[in-house]
Amino acid sequence: MDLMTKITALAKRRGFIFQSSEIYGGYQGFWDYGPVGVELKKNIKNEWWKTMVYGREDVVGIDASIIMNQIVWEKSGHLKAFTDPLVECKECHKRFRADHEELLNAHSKEHNSKMEWTGAKTFNLMTEVLLGVTEPKEKAYLRGEITQGVFVNFKNVVDSTRVKIPFGIAQIGKAFRNEVTPGNLTFRSKEFEQMELEYFVKPDENESKKTFEKFKEIRMDWYKNLGMDPKKLHFADHTPDKIAHYAKYATDIEYEAPFGWSEMEGIHHRGDYDLSNHGLKYRDGVTNEEYIPWVIETSGGVDRATLFFLIDSYTEDGDRVYLKLNPKIAPYKVAVFPLLGNKPELTAKAREVYQDLKKSMVVTWDDRGNIGKRYFAQDEIGTPWCVTVDFDTEKDNSVTVRDRDTGKQERIAIDKLQDYFQNRLR
Ligand code: GAP
Repeated sequence: MDLMTKITALAKRRGFIFQSSEIYGGYQGFWDYGPVGVELKKNIKNEWWKTMVYGREDVVGIDASIIMNQIVWEKSGHLKAFTDPLVECKECHKRFRADHEELLNAHSKEHNSKMEWTGAKTFNLMTEVLLGVTEPKEKAYLRGEITQGVFVNFKNVVDSTRVKIPFGIAQIGKAFRNEVTPGNLTFRSKEFEQMELEYFVKPDENESKKTFEKFKEIRMDWYKNLGMDPKKLHFADHTPDKIAHYAKYATDIEYEAPFGWSEMEGIHHRGDYDLSNHGLKYRDGVTNEEYIPWVIETSGGVDRATLFFLIDSYTEDGDRVYLKLNPKIAPYKVAVFPLLGNKPELTAKAREVYQDLKKSMVVTWDDRGNIGKRYFAQDEIGTPWCVTVDFDTEKDNSVTVRDRDTGKQERIAIDKLQDYFQNRLR
């Protein structure tokens, strides 16, 4: 079985990722996160916010609406330029991105190479929605990038806070793209989440280049510090044929997925493209100088990071499968079990331990089946530690703590458990 098939099966079996509307046959390009998937994704977003907002003095956050006045998308250039090239198979009329060579070759093989493609046409990625109660309804768009919500609030943020250039505005939220060929689990979806920083600097080539380089490093370090294999990460500069309509220059952080090197995050020098299109300027409070700031953007995909953390942490050790997730992003930090589920004295003590740990971290409970099966399940979820209350607990007031990665077990006093885990979660 190939790795993507194994990951997809594990994601469903353990409750990370489900197909959207699965009971009705699913809906291509849309996904749901299950009970552990939502925790993993939330932890990734929290770690991002901690690094990019709370860890800095020059960044504030916002949460803008998904649907905005459609003038925003005219001004931002998305209605004209946010397009992908599309070709159609003349035989079966299936449509594909003209730049997705592998998919085109695979499709051609399905027809024994006896088919032709139409010429490439441009295809707009914005998702239209209709609003209002009277006909004709008003056309609006689900945002194609979360970014424009930051730019249209630039003046509001400057006027309502103490930010001064250079400074950044951060945001996490959903974006929507009418992708022609969604696929590779959540990798290319029609609805997904982005985590972005728009960092405003003076319009200066050297300063903006330095900021661009600094943020490349900050973002790459973030993935590495959360445990992603450095050998599977690299930068890929955008070539002129790939660069987005708003960017002066750009680079991607790519991850080596089972389906090849793939974009996980884009770092873009957007110049004054957006602020000037929206007619926005900045006035320096001290010098009174007025100018249009330039923007360095870091734009990560929450779903892609989640998928790549899943893939990267997937470990097979003989018969054992475990997710070697950094404890900071693991869905549950600890699982607590009574050694046997049918001994009320063990269950009562184990529930005490569980309730106490729950006060400070996300903990799960399991008293089904035997201990081996419970370890097996928690390994596949990536729970770093399992705590078992056994018959000795009553005598020594201690529990067995089992480490996910080494399988080693140690005896820890119940009153030391909080510190034991907190020290390892730092
Ligand atoms: N504001 C800039 C921007 O949106 P982008 O390179 O188009 O830049 C940024 O998107 C990130 O959003 C990508 O690196 C990727 O992680 C994520 N992303 C883009 N399209 C996606 C899709 N169809 N499905 C899942 N994630 C996507």
